[in-house]
Amino acid sequence: MKITFIAADGSETRVDAAEGDSVMQAAVQNDVDGIIGECGGSMMCATCHCYVDDGWTEAVGGQQDGESDLLDCAASEVRASSRLSCQIRMRAELDGVVIHLPESQL
Ligand code: FES
Repeated sequence: MKITFIAADGSETRVDAAEGDSVMQAAVQNDVDGIIGECGGSMMCATCHCYVDDGWTEAVGGQQDGESDLLDCAASEVRASSRLSCQIRMRAELDGVVIHLPESQL
């Protein structure tokens, strides 16, 4: 399945992801600038902050327990569409999902 990442400068990167991978893992494995994923997905760093595209917020779903607390530490502006990309697991309905990247993670 595919994930499209759109950087703050508008540049797009399309990567392949396997079912069950997190969006953070797919980004890190494909060297997508803009996702660091420092804690490896254990919800301790917020360097995987992303914005879900408006057309995908419903399919992706809202923040999980504890996510908003961690997003308070995110380097870039937190919006209604903000998620920790390590907490978004790829599944069939998310094939083609579009994820926007914040300007900075640190
Ligand atoms: S990778 Fe650290 S919170 Fe997501």
